[in-house]
Amino acid sequence: MDKTFIIQEYRKSPDYVKSPFRYAGGKFYALKHIMPFIDCIPHDEYREPFVGGGSVFFAKKKVKYNWINDLETELIKVYQAFSDKNIVNQISSRLVNEVATRQRFNEVKDWQPTSALDEIYRTYYINRTSYCGIINKPAWGYKEKKSSPPSNWRKFLLDIYPKLQGVTISNMDFSEVIAAPKQGKDVLLYLDPPYFKADQKRAYTKPFELEDHIRLAEQLRHTDYYFCLSYDDVEEVKELYSWAYIHQKSWLYNTANKKGEARTMGKELVITNYKVKTNSLFVAI
Ligand SMILES: C[S@@+](CC[C@H](N)C(=O)[O-])C[C@H]1O[C@@H](n2cnc3c(N)ncnc32)[C@H](O)[C@@H]1O
Repeated sequence: MDKTFIIQEYRKSPDYVKSPFRYAGGKFYALKHIMPFIDCIPHDEYREPFVGGGSVFFAKKKVKYNWINDLETELIKVYQAFSDKNIVNQISSRLVNEVATRQRFNEVKDWQPTSALDEIYRTYYINRTSYCGIINKPAWGYKEKKSSPPSNWRKFLLDIYPKLQGVTISNMDFSEVIAAPKQGKDVLLYLDPPYFKADQKRAYTKPFELEDHIRLAEQLRHTDYYFCLSYDDVEEVKELYSWAYIHQKSWLYNTANKKGEARTMGKELVITNYKVKTNSLFVAI
């Protein structure tokens, strides 16, 4: 990857939509730092193996081939359902009279859905009202006046539906998504794995262990595709990616930490296998 790409200040894409999810480790607050590294790469195929709440996927311009993936099965079922007009209509009409209260949260949490539609509804309700959007062993986390009320949730679904059309949505290990042969001419991967050190044990169903960080780095070292990777700024990650281009950043992020604080200012890394340089108007990379 010898070419140098010119990085520009972040501008919202014409098809920008806000993620409908609340998500631990979500990158909504980091878009202005991450998107310039993505927007500077010409590509007709985009893959996001750790999509989570999808802040970057929903923000970026859709290209010819798009593939989002996550190991979290319940979350991926919701993405798949939200790409279906019929389901979106049914869920959105049920949301008309929905309320976000602790009592309703407990009721939904203890509910045993008997249909696929009910299951999707339950997962989405829990995501919107739990602490940090955590679906797995959720705790009440909705804050009156601060959190988005149920009346907005319907709009989220209607807004994202067009963006999900034609997108491949899968539930597998990241390695399969990186290894798959390309369909387009130029593939760009954006990867946002669980942090190396952040205290996110509660956030995801399956732990991401040291060996997972190592196999990710090994696979990325040998990929022919362009990649942009975001990580916490720790020595171990810098060592794992000493062969790549490493950019240091600071941004606010949502995490599920021990102190119960939902948002923390963190030192972060954006790592790429391509060189970038700024134009003279944009000096903040
Ligand atoms: C930091 S979060 C991604 C957040 C996302 N960028 C956003 O803006 O919401 C990391 C994601 O990796 C997923 N994950 C963990 N292990 C995985 C694996 N082996 N393969 C694919 N996804 C995995 C988790 O379920 C989680 O959704």
